[in-house]
Amino acid sequence: MSYKLFIPGPINVSEKTYKAMTTPVIGHRSNDFVSLYNSIQPRLQELFYTKDPVFLSTSSAWGVMEGSIRNCVAKKVLNCGNGAFSDKWADVSERCGKQNKFLSFDWGKPVDPEAVRKELSTGEYDAITLIHNETSTGTMSDLAAIMAVVRQFPEVISIVDAVSSFSAVKIEKDALGIDVMLLGTQKALALPPGMALLSVSKRSLDRASKIKDRGYYFDFHEFLTNHEKGMTPSTPVIPLIYALKSKLDDIFAEGIENRYARHAHLNGLVHAWAERHGFVLLPEKAYASKTLSCIRNTKEVNLTDLNKALKSRFKMVIDGGYGKLKDKTFRISNMGDETEATMMELLNALDTLLAEMGKA
Ligand SMILES: Cc1ncc(COP(=O)(O)O)c(C=O)c1O
Repeated sequence: MSYKLFIPGPINVSEKTYKAMTTPVIGHRSNDFVSLYNSIQPRLQELFYTKDPVFLSTSSAWGVMEGSIRNCVAKKVLNCGNGAFSDKWADVSERCGKQNKFLSFDWGKPVDPEAVRKELSTGEYDAITLIHNETSTGTMSDLAAIMAVVRQFPEVISIVDAVSSFSAVKIEKDALGIDVMLLGTQKALALPPGMALLSVSKRSLDRASKIKDRGYYFDFHEFLTNHEKGMTPSTPVIPLIYALKSKLDDIFAEGIENRYARHAHLNGLVHAWAERHGFVLLPEKAYASKTLSCIRNTKEVNLTDLNKALKSRFKMVIDGGYGKLKDKTFRISNMGDETEATMMELLNALDTLLAEMGKA
């Protein structure tokens, strides 16, 4: 049984993408693989707005998030947390045995650049982690403002999670001065889960060179050495690389700017719908995510019943609140290939169900 996924990842995968995944596998040390790998690099670099290499990791995003900590932190890392995923980074830093400080913001609030400045000014840090779009709270921090602060501290390597914003919102990696930018395929790229992409700066590679306990699987230098040969360090998830190639065709056929505009428009439809029902977003509007909407359950809708009915009658699913926001919020994604028609289909179905529940 398949359902239309309006949860903030994994999201709907197109038939075209699934078909691309059935392309027969090839040897990962073959010339065919090198051609495949090299054929997607230029367009990946264009999407990352970078001249740095873009590595393909057969893992979920957390693999390369942990890897970035292991490769980039020699002294102490500042982990900025404003939701479930960014908060977890502090735990991961701790488990990797790295000196760290957790700079915490309330869930639903963005990362405050001035708080970052104050902390980095202590001179204690050589790395910072932050999440551009906190999927658990639907909050998008002002990356440009934060990076403008971070760039004033040349020793600090910036590690930015763009997991649920990449390709839906413009993030100009090199212009912003981001050292490591990473994501997982199951979010705005609308591919199945299983692969992470990361682009790393020369500065972060230089840092990694000085760190001994980088491990093997996520070692930036293993990625680089193989990248230079048009390969990955170990056997990659080749079907997902075919899917990525097909998705890049789609993205560039649509036009990158058109893609950003489509996401902004669809996100606006959800916001307007929420407003029409008297719901309010969790974050302030200025920091509301462009790829998902995290909506306060101000009408005390029974979200379990709502989602059950949505699933059984309309074959669609939205998501409830994450972690401590369970029952307090619900989340609707507009990532990937969604269109005005598909989003309206969902919102109309929600209208019907809310009316039936006496909550319209
Ligand atoms: C912003 C963000 N970062 C990291 C992750 C973790 O990704 P993965 O489950 O692919 O490791 C998620 C997953 O939802 C996320 O939304």
